[in-house]
Amino acid sequence: MCGIVGYIGDKDAPLICLQGLRRLEYRGYDSAGISVVVDGLLDTRKVVGKLDNLEALLQTEPLHGPVGIGHTRWATHGKPSVDNSHPHLSCAGDLAVVHNGIIENYSELREQLRGEGHEFRSQTDTEVIAHLIEKLYQGNLGDAVRAACHELRGSFALGVIHQSHPDLLIGARRFSPLVVGIGKGENFIASDMGAIRKWTDQVYVIGDDEMGEITSQGIELFDLEKQPVHREIFNIPWPAEAAEKGGHKHFMHKEIHEQPAAMRECLLGRLSSPDKPIVLEGLNMTDDDIRGLKKVIFAACGTAYHAGLVGSFLMENFARIPSEGDLAAELRARNPVVLEGTLAILVSQSGETADTLVALRELKEKGARVVSVINVVDSSIARESDGVVYIQAGPEIGVASTKAYTLQVLTLQMLACHFAEVRGVQPPEVLRDMKIGIMNVPEQAAECLAREDDVKAVAAKYYQLHNALYLGRGISLPTAMEGALKLKEISYIHAEGYSAGEMKHGPIALVEPALFTVAVAVQGDVYEKMVGNIQEIKAREGPVIALATDGDEYIPGEADDVMWVPACPELISAATAQIPLQLFAYHVADMKGCHIDQPRNLAKTVTVE
Ligand code: F6R
Repeated sequence: MCGIVGYIGDKDAPLICLQGLRRLEYRGYDSAGISVVVDGLLDTRKVVGKLDNLEALLQTEPLHGPVGIGHTRWATHGKPSVDNSHPHLSCAGDLAVVHNGIIENYSELREQLRGEGHEFRSQTDTEVIAHLIEKLYQGNLGDAVRAACHELRGSFALGVIHQSHPDLLIGARRFSPLVVGIGKGENFIASDMGAIRKWTDQVYVIGDDEMGEITSQGIELFDLEKQPVHREIFNIPWPAEAAEKGGHKHFMHKEIHEQPAAMRECLLGRLSSPDKPIVLEGLNMTDDDIRGLKKVIFAACGTAYHAGLVGSFLMENFARIPSEGDLAAELRARNPVVLEGTLAILVSQSGETADTLVALRELKEKGARVVSVINVVDSSIARESDGVVYIQAGPEIGVASTKAYTLQVLTLQMLACHFAEVRGVQPPEVLRDMKIGIMNVPEQAAECLAREDDVKAVAAKYYQLHNALYLGRGISLPTAMEGALKLKEISYIHAEGYSAGEMKHGPIALVEPALFTVAVAVQGDVYEKMVGNIQEIKAREGPVIALATDGDEYIPGEADDVMWVPACPELISAATAQIPLQLFAYHVADMKGCHIDQPRNLAKTVTVE
C-alpha cells in the first residue's frame, strides 16, 4: 500500500525521499512522486510506474531542496496516472500533501470545496485534503492541518509541506502508520521505520489523532486539540543492514534463510528448558485468566490466517479449549456471538492490516479479551490489544510472507503449550515432549534449508505447469493452504489449498496429467489417509509431489517426487514442513522469471478493507 517519506534538514530532501521510498517498494505501488520547497517555492515531480521512472525524471528535471515529501501510491480512488499520483497540491500550488489511507467522506468534502471554488485535478480522495488545508490556512500550517484532520473521516497518515514555511514538515495520523525519525540537525517522517533506518535508529511512533510539527532542529508532538503529547523514543532494534538483501537475489530468499536464526531469537527467554514453564512476556494474562477461558477465536488475513488455523488446531487439540480460526475480513459480517470467557487472538505481521484491525475492534467491543501475535513493534493492532506477544522476526520486506509465518506458528505453539500447562490438561511427559519438539524447530528448519538444491530440482520439473492442488489433513491442512498461497502469489500458477478429505467432493474432477498435486504427507495420525489420497490422484494420472518425513520408505513408490522434512511430532510439524514449500514456490517463480519481491497487484501491508 502507499508509502510516505518526508525529510527536513541539510541534506538533499528529494534524494533522501527517493532512497527511503525504495525501502518501501515492497509495500506495492503503481506511481510515485516528490515535492520540495526550495527558495520559497514548491516544486513537484510525479510519474506512473516504478521509482526508476521517478529517478530518471529527476535526472532530466532535477529537484533539490532541504524539505520534501515523497510518496508511492497504490491506487484505490482513480487509476494509476500522473494526475492521481501524490503529492497533491492546493489550487494555488503552494502546499503539497502525501497520504496513506482512505478518506471516507471525500465525496461530500469534494462537492463542498468545489462549491467554494476549489478546482480538482485528480479522482483521488487525497486531493480533498490539500484543498481543505488550503481553505483552513490562516498563516499557521499546523493549525490548518489540525483543523482539516477534524473534518476528515476514515484513515490517514499525512505528510504536508508549504512554500511559506520552508522550515516545517508536518506529519499526522489516524489508523494508518506513521513514525517520526529523530536525527541530528535533520528529522524525518515515514510510514515504516525501515524507510529511514539508514539515517536514524530512533523514532517516535505517533498515535492516532496525533501530529508532529517538525523542523530541522526539533520535533513537537500534539494531539488534535493542540495539547502537547509525550511519547517515549523507540529505539529500532535491528541494524540498518537488516533492510538490505545481504547477497541474496531476493528479499524473499534472504528471509527464508533467516528462519532458523529468527526462530532461536523467538524462543530465547521464553522456552529455555523442557522442565521450566514457558514465559510469554506481554501476554498480560494471569494463570487464573488462562484457566477461565471458554473459547479462543483466531482472526487474521492471508498467510497470518493460515498461522491462525494452526494456532486454532493446537488450542483445541492440545490446550483443550474450543477454538475457531476466522478470516478477519469475514468476521464482522457474521455479527459473531462472543460469549463470556472468550479470548480473541489476532495474528498479523505488520500489525496494520485494516481487516484485522476492524475484527479486533468488533471482538473487543463484544467483550472478548484481545491478545495479538505481531511482528512490527508498537503497530496499531499491538497497541489496541490487551496483550501482545511479538514474534521477533525482524523486518520482513518480501511481499510474500515467509519468516513471519513460521515464527507466528512457533509463537502459537508456545502459547498453546503454555495454556495446556497452566490448565493442567496434558500429562507432564506429554508437555515435556511438546516443549522439546518446539525447541528443536530451529535446527530442523536449518536442515530443511540445507536441502534447498533437492527442492530446486523438483521445482525444475514442474515450473511450466499452470495448475496445482495442495492437499493436507488435520494440522497439515493450513500447511497445504499456505503452500498454495505462496505459489500462486509469486509465480501466478493457479494453486488451490484443499482438505485432502474434501478432495473427493469436487476438486478430484480437476485431476489430469497437466495438474500437479503437492500432498503434505508427513508422519502422524492422518498419514495413511493421505497415502490413500495420493493413490486416488495417481490412479487418475495426476503427478504428485509428496512432502514426507525422513525415513519413509513407502512414499517414494507412491509419489512422483518427494520433498523431505526431518522427523518431528505431527503437532509441531507446521513450521518446518512449510519451509520446503516456500523454497519450492520461490524456485518455481524464479525459473519463470517472476518479480518475486513485488508480485503484481499485491501490497505488503493492506491498510484498506
Ligand atoms: C501473503 C501475505 C499476506 C499477509 C496478509 C496479512 O504472503 O503476506 O497474505 O499475510 O496480507 O498481513 P499481516 O500479517 O501484515 O496482517
